[in-house]
Amino acid sequence: MARITAGVGVSHVPAIGVAMDTGITDQPYWQPVFAGFERSRDWIKKAKPDVVFLVYNDHCTAFSAEMIPTFALGCAAEFAPADEGWGPRPVPMVKGHQKLASHIAQSVILDEFDLTIMNAMEVDHGLTVPLSIMFGQPDEWPCLVIPLCVNVVQYPPPTGNRCYNLGRAIRRAVESYDEDLNVVIFGTGGMSHQLQYKRAGLINSVWDTDFLDRLTSDPVGLSQKPHVDYLREAGSEGIELVMWHVMRGALDDEVVEVHRHYHVPASNTAVGHIILENKVKE
Ligand code: DHB
Ligand code: FE
Repeated sequence: MARITAGVGVSHVPAIGVAMDTGITDQPYWQPVFAGFERSRDWIKKAKPDVVFLVYNDHCTAFSAEMIPTFALGCAAEFAPADEGWGPRPVPMVKGHQKLASHIAQSVILDEFDLTIMNAMEVDHGLTVPLSIMFGQPDEWPCLVIPLCVNVVQYPPPTGNRCYNLGRAIRRAVESYDEDLNVVIFGTGGMSHQLQYKRAGLINSVWDTDFLDRLTSDPVGLSQKPHVDYLREAGSEGIELVMWHVMRGALDDEVVEVHRHYHVPASNTAVGHIILENKVKE
């Protein structure tokens, strides 16, 4: 059967994608950011996922402000990188796993999590930057990708608790799929950052570090954090971190932290990254 073996948490700062696309990753500003991803790339080469289930947010790119689904599951055969104003990023087409995605839709919706089914969708930096961070610049992405898009752009986003329990339901869905598949789940966005108004540039490393620690030590307690805490402590865009609870909920209660990278700042954002493996591997 299919199994979720590990989780990856990673920021999606668009300038990281631009640095890769324009070949400036070894400049002094970027070198320490990318140095922390070298181990991640080795790790994922060895982990060899068949499918990445990628929890991310759209930034009013694929969805206009006219229609904002809370949870939207990518069930298409492929997802083109979106044009966010400077042309699409020069990265490969993202290929989906339609059969597994349909199975997850069936299982999760009948498990009473109402998802929007996306049979066509473009994907913005929220999805392509985490792929670039983990896989570098291949001609083709080395695995299939199932996108799950979460609303964090207009209040109210889903609660951390809802996200965590959705992760649980996604795990049940994956484990009821017959084919042997190695699935790695990504929770993306964050960490602390605020892009506008008086507190623009806000970064809170103490809060971010506590969030990273508690993913292993107290994931359920962490998922109970109210939205106002993210807003006050991690800035207006810090709310992107609710998506990490979907990833954490899909893993075992006990996990091993195999890698962490934290760097301040990249663009306006604290870059946070963690790799968690389930303890019992079969
Ligand atoms: C930045 C961070 C984001 O999460 C985003 O979506 C856009 C920009 C930034 O730090 O510049
Ligand atoms: Fe963002």
